[in-house]
Amino acid sequence: MQSNTFSGLFDCRNVITLQRVSSTNEFLKEELSKSTPLPEGTVIMAVDQYAGRGQKGTVWQSEPGKNLTVSLLLMPSFSDPKDQFRLTVAISIALVQWLETLLQTPVRIKWPNDMYVGNQKIGGILIENILKGKVWKSAIIGIGINVNQTAFDPAIDPHTTSVKQILQKDFDLTELLTDLCVLIEQEYEGLKKAAYKSQFAFYTQHLYRLGESHPFLVDGVRVQGVLSGVTETGRLQVDFNGHIVDFDIKEIAFVV
Ligand code: BTN
Repeated sequence: MQSNTFSGLFDCRNVITLQRVSSTNEFLKEELSKSTPLPEGTVIMAVDQYAGRGQKGTVWQSEPGKNLTVSLLLMPSFSDPKDQFRLTVAISIALVQWLETLLQTPVRIKWPNDMYVGNQKIGGILIENILKGKVWKSAIIGIGINVNQTAFDPAIDPHTTSVKQILQKDFDLTELLTDLCVLIEQEYEGLKKAAYKSQFAFYTQHLYRLGESHPFLVDGVRVQGVLSGVTETGRLQVDFNGHIVDFDIKEIAFVV
């Protein structure tokens, strides 16, 4: 385990690089259960994450040393746990801003927090919250971004891209992480200062397929609807012939 301190990154707190780990989210969760407290802003970065996890129990695969596979520790105890979606919004919009600057192309959020360029996924977020009673003790922000990898297993996801596939060159992962953390910190501070409404507006404007009519799977049945937005608690709103229905993540799937 190698520990570094970056100036300007989460107030110069810890960045821990692990050569090989099952999952950075899992590692952070285990560390949090130990008696030595970890400071907010701790970042775990994996070189080789061999059992990465995605949303809805999916697998997150990454070639060793090629991509950003990181977990950040935040302690949003200033916020009511019922507002958990606000953190998803803040982190998602930081990623959009960072990716759009890097790629110089539009990036969209496939609800709730996948990063898409066109119809291809370039990264995703897995946020795991730890509550104690009514207090939101900590949030593990797992981020996976395809950076220098150029071949992906189509059986896992046939619609995948990477920074290198778009820009045709390799990038230094530590430098990218530093830039990303600046934006995450900025949006997290914005959340503390109640910038939620403008963050929510940015998130909504950047939703993948906003205002477009597409098929969705609802309980395994294919239905056509227009993605019309999200509720403040993070439910997806779909307009079926003028009748708006909202869904949580287990209830609906995109057909890409
Ligand atoms: C998704 O798209 O479903 C979310 C992917 C999240 C992957 C990241 S990689 C770092 C962190 N550790 C994990 O096991 N998962 C997240």
